[in-house]
Amino acid sequence: MHHKKPPFVAGNWKMHMTIQEAKLLAAAIIQARLELSEAEIVLIPPFTALRSVKKLAGESPVQLGAQNLFWEEQGAYTGEISAPMLKNVGCRYVVIGHSERRQYFGETDATVNKKIAGALNSKLNPIVCMGETLEEREAGKTMPRVESQIQAGLAGLTPEQFREIIIAYEPIWAIGTGKTATPGQAEEVHAFIREKLAEIYGKEAAFCAIIIYGGSVKPANSYSLFREKNIDGFLVGGASLEADSFIQIIKEAIRAYKEEQ
Ligand code: PGA
Repeated sequence: MHHKKPPFVAGNWKMHMTIQEAKLLAAAIIQARLELSEAEIVLIPPFTALRSVKKLAGESPVQLGAQNLFWEEQGAYTGEISAPMLKNVGCRYVVIGHSERRQYFGETDATVNKKIAGALNSKLNPIVCMGETLEEREAGKTMPRVESQIQAGLAGLTPEQFREIIIAYEPIWAIGTGKTATPGQAEEVHAFIREKLAEIYGKEAAFCAIIIYGGSVKPANSYSLFREKNIDGFLVGGASLEADSFIQIIKEAIRAYKEEQ
């Protein structure tokens, strides 16, 4: 039996939002949270807006995440931000290995692995991204690609450490393109990821793992994606930049969740 977990929905604002804009967006979502209590909601602003958003969130259950970190705790690393700094500003989560970081900033499974360790040392929960390119999908290499990202990215984690991690499956061809994976395509990979995690960490830990989908999630596809057995929530980019669409995505996931109860 597979019991559906409550929706985990994170809004990745990427390189958008001044402090003023971030405060407006966050305030609207924090306000709406009162009617969305079944969901875990995470706001992931740029570094410059973290403190302002945290101040607004206060004691609200809306959580804060960062988009990246460096693995060292401190030192001569101009331009980088460490896990203790993120913890200090009030983050609970940090995105690691987003495909845009891999594509434009040279991140690899090896750097992902070090960043996970850095995050865990400061008691941050990593949201670890993985996913295939269009060429890999068309060549039938989706599963091997994702498997190698799990093997190398999560290498060396103890089962206890693994429990702190959220996995985000984000097919690269679906990110920012308007081409969402169909619920069936997403579910197939989510089920595969859970199966691989079960082989490494055991059935129980894999069953409990939160595996979220990202790539053109919209109010119109949230319900049908969340209905799938192994999809536990979303990492939302574009549609998280407006309060209305982000809130609607959460509402649709909650609707699907309630139908499973
Ligand atoms: P998108 O981005 O929703 O704009 O496709 C998703 C992501 O990159 O996390």
